[in-house]
Parts: sequence; structure tokens; C-alpha cells
Amino acid sequence: MNKQLRKAVIAGNWKMNKTPDETKALIEEIKPLVKDADCDVIVCVPFIDIHAALEATKGSNIKVGAENCHWAESGAFTGEVSAPMLKAIGVPYVIIGHSERRQYFGETDETVHNRVRAALNNGLSVILCVGEYLAQREQNITMEVIATQVKIALKDVTAEELKEKIIIAYEPVWAIGTGLTATSAQANEVNKGIRDLIADLYDADTANATVIQYGGSMNAGNAAELLSQPDVDGGLIGGASLKAPDFAAIVEAASK
Ligand code: PGA
Repeated sequence: MNKQLRKAVIAGNWKMNKTPDETKALIEEIKPLVKDADCDVIVCVPFIDIHAALEATKGSNIKVGAENCHWAESGAFTGEVSAPMLKAIGVPYVIIGHSERRQYFGETDETVHNRVRAALNNGLSVILCVGEYLAQREQNITMEVIATQVKIALKDVTAEELKEKIIIAYEPVWAIGTGLTATSAQANEVNKGIRDLIADLYDADTANATVIQYGGSMNAGNAAELLSQPDVDGGLIGGASLKAPDFAAIVEAASK
């Protein structure tokens, strides 16, 4: 397995934070700090902020993502946003299956799969989140849980789609927003497990080419160690992505 084949991807997940004006201000602050990045840089923002983010990132190396999309093209789904809508405004990335969506909004492996399919059908790139609860880790079923999430999400996804359009983010639920980061060994073990699973489901080439991030309390202080692991190809960053210097420090760690 060769890390050199993969470009690291650092993505901010702003969650339910920032107004459009605040979005513009934070991106203006981030832009000069990451302009020489030797990794891909993405900011995933609330729907209401996407326009401001697309404007503010124009001509820069920062890409914009949404934080979710529905599986239907349109219809009676109050409060939801469809993949064709995201495509129409030109947003290239979308996070799907974040643990907060699974935990608080009833996402299942099946709806995650349907949303992934809708995003791919509309040409969007997906950041697909998977992760275990602390109780599952303590029961030693982490890899079974992750394998089930990955297998169902990727059902009917072709090797080409996986290589070109999907980033997998391993995010242990117990590490998200808690300040409890997985050790670099724990992060790499699961990321490698996901890569081995992809080699089984697809082939070694596809496994080698798939970008697999770690997420969960990654910050300026621990990023270099996590990102130095052979199977950790970047990070999905929540809290630290809301502070330009911290986010930029993680981008710099990924660029080395
Ligand atoms: P965190 O969030 O960095 O604040 O732990 C990560 C995520 O939820 O993607």
C-alpha cells in the first residue's frame, strides 16, 4: 500500500456555525494561510453559507462542500436539500453519513447509501463518514461496525466512482467534539482495516487510490502525528476548522 499515490485532503466541517458574513470573514482569514498547501483543502459549510463560501473562495485553492444532501431529486421532504440543488449552485463536495446525522436525525446505513448514490448521480464528490460508538469499541466490534457501514454505503458504487469521487472519513464517535482523540495507532488500524476491506470488495489498485481521512478532535497539536500514519490520508476537522490559524496548521502538517 503506497501513501505516495494519494494526495492528502484536509476538510473543515463547520457544522451549525457561522452566518454568511462570518463565512466570508473566516475564509478571507484562511485563504492566505493555506495558499501554498500541498494537499487538498475543503471547507464544508451550512447550506445558507454556500453562496458566500463559493464567492469568497473564487480563484483560491479552497474548495467548498455541503454538509448533507437528500436522496430524492425533489419532492415533499420539508427542510431537506437535494443533490441536483447542490449541483445547480456549483458546490463540488458533500459530507454524507456524519455521526451527528446518524445520532440525532435518524440516518441509517440505508439512507446514507441512498444519499451517496444521489450525490454521485449528480456528479458531486462525497466525504463519507463512518465510525463506532465507545461501547462498540469496548466490545471489540469496531471493525465489524465499520465494515457494515462501508459495505452498505458503497453498495452499487463502482471502483471508478470510489477512486475519483469518494473520500472516506473514519470518525470514532467517542472522539468527535470531545477532545478525546484516537491514538495514531488506533486511527491507522481502522483506516488500514477499511483499505483492506476495499481491496476485498474491489481490488488492490482501488484500495491504494482511495483517500481515507481520520476525524475526531484533530487539532494543530496532534495533526502531524496522526497524518504521519501510512493509512491516514488527511482529516475531517470540526472545532479546529473554525479557527483560521489552527486549521492552517493542520493543512501545513498535511503538506509535509
Ligand atoms: P471535531 O469534529 O474535530 O470537533 O471532533 C470532527 C467532525 O465531526 O467531523
